[in-house]
Order: sequence, then structure tokens, then C-alpha cells
Amino acid sequence: MSAQTKLPETKQGVLAPLIKNMRIPVIVAPMFQISGPDMVIASCRAGAIGSFPAAGARKIEDLDEWCDRISRETKDAAPWALNLLTHPSYIRHDEELEVISRHRPPLVITALGSPKVVIEAVHEYGGLVFADVARPRHAKKALAAGVDGLVLLCAGAGGHTGTYSPFAFVDEVREFWDGPIVLSGAISNARNILAAEALGADFAYMGTRFLAAKESLGVPRRKDMVVEACMEDIIASAGISGVLGNWFRQSLEAAGVTDEDLRATRKMNMSAPEKSKPWKDIWGAGHGVSSVTSIQSVAEIIENLRHDYINLGGKFQKS
Ligand SMILES: Cc1cc2nc3c(=O)[nH]c(=O)nc-3n(C[C@H](O)[C@H](O)[C@H](O)COP(=O)(O)O)c2cc1C
Repeated sequence: MSAQTKLPETKQGVLAPLIKNMRIPVIVAPMFQISGPDMVIASCRAGAIGSFPAAGARKIEDLDEWCDRISRETKDAAPWALNLLTHPSYIRHDEELEVISRHRPPLVITALGSPKVVIEAVHEYGGLVFADVARPRHAKKALAAGVDGLVLLCAGAGGHTGTYSPFAFVDEVREFWDGPIVLSGAISNARNILAAEALGADFAYMGTRFLAAKESLGVPRRKDMVVEACMEDIIASAGISGVLGNWFRQSLEAAGVTDEDLRATRKMNMSAPEKSKPWKDIWGAGHGVSSVTSIQSVAEIIENLRHDYINLGGKFQKS
């Protein structure tokens, strides 16, 4: 790391550049086939961190364009984050790193693999790296690699999920890490955000609550499914992508997935050809799905969350 990009050593120091323009302690989580530039820009302008998965941009040129537009349109807004798959089977990694080095997202969130491969490049330009982890042992590994923060994937999260209770997971991680923690898993309303803070997390990672937002790239049928569904419609299985995920029962049925498929063990391949990607028409969502009762804009969702959060005594950037 060059001298001028030396990173702050305290938690407050790490958080200061991130929270500067935030109005609520929320990261609108990256969601494949859902998050695009409109969603990210709307999130940042409303005062939450907006994010998207690099893999969601079909071509590397699209990724370049998306990053360029987001950087330009979020100048005085909350920061944005790019989500990178760091699984060894993901083949676009080097090209994505090159785009990142040019567009310098303030925050990079790694998923499904070791964060080690991105840390130097992101720290080089002064960005921060958070790693999503589903177990304390993965948290320790990510910290040993040099990440600046952790996203704890807990039970009930949409898409690839954890299985641990947030109560125990945050406590166990807080035994060895006093830096930034982002909590995920069915966080759906202001009460849940306050609960995440009470547990010891710094930010709530919210995906499902934004699945049916106006700016979501989801097809209309998918948004309707979100509005109509309840938690019993969500099925956990590692048989779809090779990693445990929460999926809509209705989309599993429509795709003809059998009980045997759900129980199958499958090797994760993040670079499988488009038409054979099992998750293409099988839609992820978390246990908090019934919190979505209408299709609203991202700004409306965040404004409502902030209104309730402050009324309930939330203190984040209150003035
Ligand atoms: C449809 C969908 C797609 C997702 N895609 C990604 C992804 O591409 N990368 C990633 O790191 N997480 C992905 N996630 C997980 C979210 O980033 C986040 O961890 C999760 O939504 C939080 O739980 P919640 O949905 O209960 O709020 C996805 C989640 C959903 C619902």
C-alpha cells in the first residue's frame, strides 16, 4: 500500500468516510438480476449505501459504464459499493479488478470466496473491503487477510444465506473483532435495524425489502411474487447453486425442481454458461419477504425506514 493511502486504524476512522453522507445505517444489499445503476443511485441519494454485484453487468463494458454513471451521479450522496464474487470458479475476476481500479468504488464487498485477491488493489486507491461470511471461522480468515469490515450472513437471508442466529453470531465475532460489522438476514423494517444496532452491528444489510422496488431490475412477475409471498414460501437448499440459499417455492416449482434436486450436492460453478445457470429462473428471497406489501420507489422505502427509525429513537445521524 502506498503511504498516502494508509488506512485508518480505528473503527471510527474506518467508518468516517462511509457514514459522512448517510442518513440511515443501511446498506441496500447487492442482488444479482435485481440491482443496477438506478437502484444504486436512488439508494445513495436517499442516504443509504447502494450496491450491486459486478456479475450483474452482462459484459465488462456494461460494468465500466455502470460504474462510471454511478460515480458521476452519487457525488454528494452516500457512498456506493461494488460486490465481487471471489470464488475461484469465477473467470471475470481480473477484468473486474481492472474496472475497479479505474472507478474506485469507496467500498468493495466480497462474496463466496477469499477476499485476499482484492484487498491490495482496493487499499491501493484508499477504498475499503468488507467480506461477507457465514461462520466465525470465515470471519477470522477474512480478518487475517486484512479486510476492513465483515458482513455477517445470518439465517433467513435472501439468496445465499447463513444458518446462524444473529444473536450468537454477532456476539461470537465481537469476541475477536471490534471493527465494522454489517448484519444480514431478514432485516426488513426500522425495528429490525435498531435491533441490529442493539446486537452490536454498525449497519443493516437489506436485500429482500428492496426486491420489488420500482428501480429493481426484476421482471414484473417476480415483483408480484414478492408482494404476495410470506416466509413459508421460502425454501432453503444447497442443491441449486452448490451453496445454501433461500429460494421462492413458486419459482422452484415453475422450474420443475424436485425434492431430489433440492437435496442434491452440486459443485459451485460461477462461470457456468448462461443457459445452464440454475439460478437464472429460480428466484432468491429471504424470510422477510412479507414485509413487502406494495411496489414502492427506493426513496420511499428508505424515507419510511428513516421516519420509523427516528420515531423509535434511532440515533444515527439524527441532526
Ligand atoms: C435475489 C437475490 C440476489 C442476490 N444476489 C447476490 C449477489 O449477487 N451477491 C451477493 O453477495 N449477495 C447476493 N444476495 C444476498 C444479498 O446481498 C443479502 O445478503 C441478502 O439479501 C440479505 O438478506 P435479506 O434478503 O433477508 O435482506 C442476493 C439476495 C437476493 C434476494
